[in-house]
Amino acid sequence: MRLQDKARIKFFEAYFHGMSMVERLVHGASLNVFDRDMIENPYPFYNKMRDQRPIHYSLALRGWWVTSFDLVQEALKDKRFGADVRAYPQRADRIRKQIAHDPERLKNFENPSMLGLDPPDHSRIRRLAQQGFLHKFIASLEPRIALIVDNCLTTIDNDPVFDVVEALAKPLPATVIAEMMGLPESDHAQFQRWSEDLIDGTGTNDIGKLEKSMLASRQLTNYFRKIIAQKRDEKGDDLIIQLIRAEEEGDKLTEQELYNTCQLVLVAGHETTTRLISNGLYLLLKSPDCWQQLRANPDQIPAAVEEMLRFEPPVQATQRFVREELDFHGHKFKKGDLVFLSIAGGNRDPAVNDHPEDFNIEREKINQVSFGYGIHLCIGASLARMEAKVAFEKLLEKYPDLNLVDPDPHWGDNPFFRGHEVLQVRKASNKGA
Ligand code: HEM
Repeated sequence: MRLQDKARIKFFEAYFHGMSMVERLVHGASLNVFDRDMIENPYPFYNKMRDQRPIHYSLALRGWWVTSFDLVQEALKDKRFGADVRAYPQRADRIRKQIAHDPERLKNFENPSMLGLDPPDHSRIRRLAQQGFLHKFIASLEPRIALIVDNCLTTIDNDPVFDVVEALAKPLPATVIAEMMGLPESDHAQFQRWSEDLIDGTGTNDIGKLEKSMLASRQLTNYFRKIIAQKRDEKGDDLIIQLIRAEEEGDKLTEQELYNTCQLVLVAGHETTTRLISNGLYLLLKSPDCWQQLRANPDQIPAAVEEMLRFEPPVQATQRFVREELDFHGHKFKKGDLVFLSIAGGNRDPAVNDHPEDFNIEREKINQVSFGYGIHLCIGASLARMEAKVAFEKLLEKYPDLNLVDPDPHWGDNPFFRGHEVLQVRKASNKGA
């Protein structure tokens, strides 16, 4: 990384902390997402902000925060909020200038994945990509997912204590998505590392992490270039071959869009699900009654997974840009303004969930936006739910008395992707061993 980039990052860090303090003094509340207290438990901060200023301009992040459920949903549905930063010349040109020395990054910036696109391009690419995620097809994967979980758990059969992140939460979604995409098993460990590095580079000022993330992005693009070239001559119906066919049949997808879609699906497909499984297990083991209740009533697992998603959403916030000057509930938003939609804040809003601070697997109606809302609603939601369901069924069946080694393990320091890096659990008794 160039010296001037490092200096810019250091300046941002100092500015951010300074401005967060100013905000706290002026408003009595701020969202310093990099603060260790907020990383460990962000919810009191979002609650306070929602109570006092559900729409808040953060001087520190130079963007708006929206923290109430209804307003988050409203903004995600509103066409006047877009995802494509290139539509705002001032903002986009600033970024272009910063990365002009790196043609690969510039190319990526000019060709965002569907997550960073607005209609009509977004709709065209999404329509093609979601063909591989139809509910019926995902449901048919259940036996294979069960087998993958069994294989993961076999590796720790003789360990009285194990790290559930390493043993199950990481390899399960990585294997599932790799098989769906038809990627060789020998590459799993490698792309798992690249995906982790890529995610680690979001929501951080750590120069080492940013450098690793840029490198991982390059390596993933090269990897997919090679894989796609090979797959052009293959028959089959994996996700990548389906997308190649769409590209070849009618110019519906450019080659760059093909790389981007593969990279997005691979990374989005497992980094988030990993966190759902480990966050969910942590929540269940924190309240052993829930663990025993689900053991007795495994048919309640899907409802428990919904509550896990609500209570500890793996994706804590998403962002949009204001497409045209507008009045948003009495606040003047200017064209190009950055808006953070707080999924974590929305899910804990007492206006839509009674006693939101209680983790309650018997909650009658669960309101959550953990998979987003509107046109960018997660295409992998059914798959993630299915993987979590099978993972908990198997864990409950195999380890009836599982418990946490450390009741308060540290949370990983990425403020936008919430999860534990390590979650050690102990098998008090083990049917499988
Ligand atoms: C618990 C697991 C998951 C969570 C919490 C999650 C969360 C999200 C969220 C919040 C969004 C919307 C972002 C926005 O509006 O800016 C999203 C979009 C997306 N997710 Fe997921 N996701 C999960 C699993 C998956 C899986 C398993 C896949 C695919 C295999 C996937 C693929 C995608 C894609 C491609 C998009 C972009 C959709 C679009 O832009 O139209 N996700 N996800």
